[in-house]
Amino acid sequence: MNCIKKFHFLPFFSVLFLGHFVSCQLDYRFYDSTCASLTKIVRYGVWSAIANETRMAASILRLHFHDCLVDGCEGSVMLDDTSSMKGEKNAFPNRNSVRGFEVIDAIKASVEKSCPGTVSCADILTLAAREAVYLAGGPFYMVPLGRRDGLSAKESSANEQLPSPLEPLENITAKFTSKGLDLKDVVVLSGAHTIGFAQCFTFKSRLFDFGGSGKPDPALDTSLLQNLQSVCPNQVDSDTNLAPLDPLTINKFDNSYYMNLVNSSGLLQSDQALMGNDKTASMVMNYSKYPFLFAKDFGASMVKMAGLGVLTGQNGQIRKTCRAVN
Ligand code: HEM
Ligand SMILES: *[C@@H]1O[C@H](CO)[C@@H](O)[C@H](O)[C@H]1NC(C)=O
Ligand SMILES: *[C@@H]1O[C@H](CO)[C@@H](O)[C@H](O)[C@H]1NC(C)=O
Ligand SMILES: *[C@@H]1O[C@H](CO)[C@@H](O)[C@H](O)[C@H]1NC(C)=O
Ligand SMILES: *[C@@H]1O[C@H](CO)[C@@H](O)[C@H](O)[C@H]1NC(C)=O
Repeated sequence: MNCIKKFHFLPFFSVLFLGHFVSCQLDYRFYDSTCASLTKIVRYGVWSAIANETRMAASILRLHFHDCLVDGCEGSVMLDDTSSMKGEKNAFPNRNSVRGFEVIDAIKASVEKSCPGTVSCADILTLAAREAVYLAGGPFYMVPLGRRDGLSAKESSANEQLPSPLEPLENITAKFTSKGLDLKDVVVLSGAHTIGFAQCFTFKSRLFDFGGSGKPDPALDTSLLQNLQSVCPNQVDSDTNLAPLDPLTINKFDNSYYMNLVNSSGLLQSDQALMGNDKTASMVMNYSKYPFLFAKDFGASMVKMAGLGVLTGQNGQIRKTCRAVN
């Protein structure tokens, strides 16, 4: 369904409101008449993936973030490399790290059975992330649909645009603000680290020789430090071992990420850095005390993130499979 078609069915007097329809914005009811079963199909696909592996809720949420932050939410993160295109999958922040492609492929295949050629991979991933957050105990938020899929992906875009856990908060914030997100979104969306896992190499520099000091990061709680040192011994072969981002409630989407930060128990250097700045620290305090405030703000920031750089109308395409352009 595109904006031009919609326009044909409008009664004559609606011409007065033409401006609303030619802009091709996202719409809460975009697939109501073309794929009424969409939400149910996505919900079931995410539910069964999480039933098989609890961590998948976190992995799908992160996949959506990595799609949206790099050249917008247009499904480019899901494109496989081709002989003529080095895509995002093998960029440094994604390779051997981002997960959940098979889950989205399976959901896309079921959606194609019910509504062929109708629903974009970008919208499926957006809905899957919403369901994952909800099924993990987080807020349910309404998200408008109508994204179309991009025609290309670029490894260098992912390398340049995704944040690193080792860069300072100012740099991470700059990456978010360059997209139209703000400092509050950085703090709120980082709360996604209330679920899921990180590999030792993403935080090991904090455990043994922080910034060349020969000592651990002083901003890391000493009992958590001891646990992490045993999960991630100081040798290369521990690099891919896993530690939970929120050891308090590993699989539950709640506000304990912020409680951890208040207690010097953030896992990534970039997590704990939110306490190193007065403005972000007071937001962290707020969310550590008020779970409902976090739930409400998280939903709002997710909708904002899900609107970044979207393709609508006649732009892009509806892919047949999420791994390749048509
Ligand atoms: C603010 C800057 C951010 C940085 C530097 C960052 C960095 C990371 C890193 C290094 C990991 C571990 C990856 C691995 O070990 O393979 C991770 C995991 C994760 N990130 Fe982030 N992240 C950020 C923001 C976000 C945002 C905004 C979201 C979602 C809204 C998110 C969701 C997740 C989730 C759910 C996981 C766990 C994934 C899993 O278990 O499969 N992150 N992040
Ligand atoms: C279930 O999860 C395991 C990992 O825990 C994975 O290897 C397997 O492919 C998953 N099976 C299905 C049907 O998703
Ligand atoms: C942070 O950004 C500045 C300015 O863009 C850059 O010079 C610096 O190398 C970045 N720091 C890190 C650790 O990425
Ligand atoms: C910090 O940890 C202590 C126990 O170690 C706990 O009593 C306190 O509630 C925690 N604070 C927050 C904000 O979670
Ligand atoms: C804390 O939350 C309240 C809303 O309950 C808000 O008015 C206030 O600005 C927040 N403070 C910070 C520092 O985010």
